[in-house]
Amino acid sequence: MATAMDHRRAPLLDAIRRYQADGVIPFSTPGHKRGAGIDREFGELVGSSFLSLDIPLGGGVDDTHFGGDTLAAAETLAAAAWGADRSFFLVNGSSAGNHAYLLATLRPGDEVVVARDIHKSLLVALILSGAVPVYVAPRLHPILDVGLGVDPDDIASALEHHPRAKLVALVSPSYCGVPSDIAAIAAVTRAHGVPLFVDEAWGPHFGFHPALPPSAMASGADGAVTSTHKVLGALTQSAILNVRGDLVDPRQVKTAVGMVQTTSPSVPILASIDACRRQMALAGTGLLERAAALAEDARRRLRAVPGVDVLGADRLGITSYDVTKLVIDVHGLGLTGFELEAILRARFHLQPEMSDLVGCICLVSIGDSAETIDRLVAAVATIGRERSGRSADQGQPLRSSGAAIAPGRQALSPREAFFAPAREVPLVDAVGCVSAELVIPYPPGIPVLAPGDIIDMDKVAYLREGAARGMYLSGPVDGRLETVRIVVED
Ligand SMILES: Cc1ncc(COP(=O)(O)O)c(C=O)c1O
Repeated sequence: MATAMDHRRAPLLDAIRRYQADGVIPFSTPGHKRGAGIDREFGELVGSSFLSLDIPLGGGVDDTHFGGDTLAAAETLAAAAWGADRSFFLVNGSSAGNHAYLLATLRPGDEVVVARDIHKSLLVALILSGAVPVYVAPRLHPILDVGLGVDPDDIASALEHHPRAKLVALVSPSYCGVPSDIAAIAAVTRAHGVPLFVDEAWGPHFGFHPALPPSAMASGADGAVTSTHKVLGALTQSAILNVRGDLVDPRQVKTAVGMVQTTSPSVPILASIDACRRQMALAGTGLLERAAALAEDARRRLRAVPGVDVLGADRLGITSYDVTKLVIDVHGLGLTGFELEAILRARFHLQPEMSDLVGCICLVSIGDSAETIDRLVAAVATIGRERSGRSADQGQPLRSSGAAIAPGRQALSPREAFFAPAREVPLVDAVGCVSAELVIPYPPGIPVLAPGDIIDMDKVAYLREGAARGMYLSGPVDGRLETVRIVVED
């Protein structure tokens, strides 16, 4: 990580203070004019100090409308902190970074090697770019139904079979905190002269503490997007797109970022990324040391509750893991994660990040304390005690059949399938048809169907059983999946 910069500086925060000190009367956006024109109740909710920093970027933070120097200075500091050559601040999350990077690197019809456990924003990037995915399935833990990342050998094999591929794109870490071996994958992509892009939405803290997996930039990726809002201290929607190396022209990335982002970015969001960078560069290691210790303490105490388990590198048989993720399995209590989430929220006023058939994911961050951890552990222990002696036999949680999450065969590119005429048919009648939509069951968060996929019997059987058991399905128009949208053949 480059440290030659003076990370005590925060150019965007300084500029906001200058604007405020100057007593500027704005004849510019936003129309609420630093809160004077805002709805009273909303104004009270957010507070006048927050509204006074909701100023425009051009003409507010920068003296002139098209200056851009202050943002560039903040992005240069971020590039140094995240080990990139260039960084671009994003106000529409990692989603915007996924869209921008693929638009910058791919043309319609280009082949791109893509890990199958993509987030829907990467799939949207495939639709926008018109690229043709060569899907690579992540390895799956045989019992725990958790993705173990993409194997470098599988990437090597995909590139050997598709020598014209223009990019390799994958998600690391997974939602459950499991990273792929980016250094090994980068060695493969470098040998083929193909850029590697990592959707590191869940790893903005990587690289700031040795107990966490190495960051994508430090591991040799050419591009990586990371959500500073997800587990660090920046505001919701904030993210950074990092690029390095000479395989991709950063000016093309900058142009693409300008295409997918609003022309009126929120200064509070941008400033929060600047502040987050300063905080991590100056104090990140200590803050993450504490967060990791709190999470490990919670993991140990939660595992001590009969019927409860929590994922960790030991359970998965891996060496690198994001210890700040608490993936809590309550199947042994005879509860689904949905039920646990409802109880935690209603009775204990605790809000997990996500729940599924098996359990809940709870995030521990630099904002947690011994008290918040105690509250979580005590709540789960209480629920565990109340359920002791009850039958834990609610049937096995649905495990992914390898066949269901295997990429299968594609008839069309995601873009062709998205723009093709489509209609809804009962799921049972869809075998042999081409999917027009994305269907991602949780767990394990890996698409069973993507637009363009040929729907086979295994996938239909798995989705029917999952839907009947209340599995959460992200993506389809019909959330209960009685019907699925298919491409209408000419
Ligand atoms: C793997 C992955 N990539 C991208 C995103 C999108 O991130 P954002 O919400 O910052 O746009 C998410 C969101 O959950 C994600 O899980």
